[in-house]
Amino acid sequence: MDSGFSLPRVGTSDDPIRLAVLISGGGSGLAALLRYQHTARCHRTVLVLADKADAGGLQHGRDAGITSIGVPLPMQVEKPDRRVAHERLVHSELEAADVELVVLSGYMRILTPWFVRRWKGRLVNIHPSLLPDFPGAHAHRDALAAGVNVTGCTVHLVDEGVDSGPILAQMKVEVRPDDDEEALQERVKRMEHVLYPDVLDRLCSGLILL
Ligand code: GRF
Repeated sequence: MDSGFSLPRVGTSDDPIRLAVLISGGGSGLAALLRYQHTARCHRTVLVLADKADAGGLQHGRDAGITSIGVPLPMQVEKPDRRVAHERLVHSELEAADVELVVLSGYMRILTPWFVRRWKGRLVNIHPSLLPDFPGAHAHRDALAAGVNVTGCTVHLVDEGVDSGPILAQMKVEVRPDDDEEALQERVKRMEHVLYPDVLDRLCSGLILL
């Protein structure tokens, strides 16, 4: 039992947990989650937030009628304060939307302890490898370079480290001899799109205990 993590309340289809999905790119994982949420679930996406104004995935949120905003880095703030200044902007948007659980879905920023402390237990990530193997931004490249036969994806609670919080679930994916990064990424993503909604169901209905 790690008392540093405070999990969300139990949601129901009448009173679903309010999710924010944070993205940086095309948002295929976001699109899969929104399709899943077409049916009433114990979680509902109320905010899509990207760290770039032109992130392609914002359109998935807009198409679903969900508030979808880009919150770029405040370049007027000097480094090293810029990261936390950005996170303060993100945090304000999450609070303004009464968000209860933050879902990282291809959000390509490493969060600072300042942000993690405020959301610990209510901040989840999906990573495209079987953690603890191949953390970081190049999981598929690293898996191929290591010559493994099996890789996969991992949903975990976020702590102050990089891809290092408590693992909630994993799915395996075979690595084929002719795989390149792109082919492997596509096959792993298909598994991610099944795994993430399922873990969110369990987390938001009180079935995950630490
Ligand atoms: C996913 O593979 C996710 O695991 C990784 O980034 C990718 C995002 O893809 N962190 P998309 O933007 O959801 O298509």
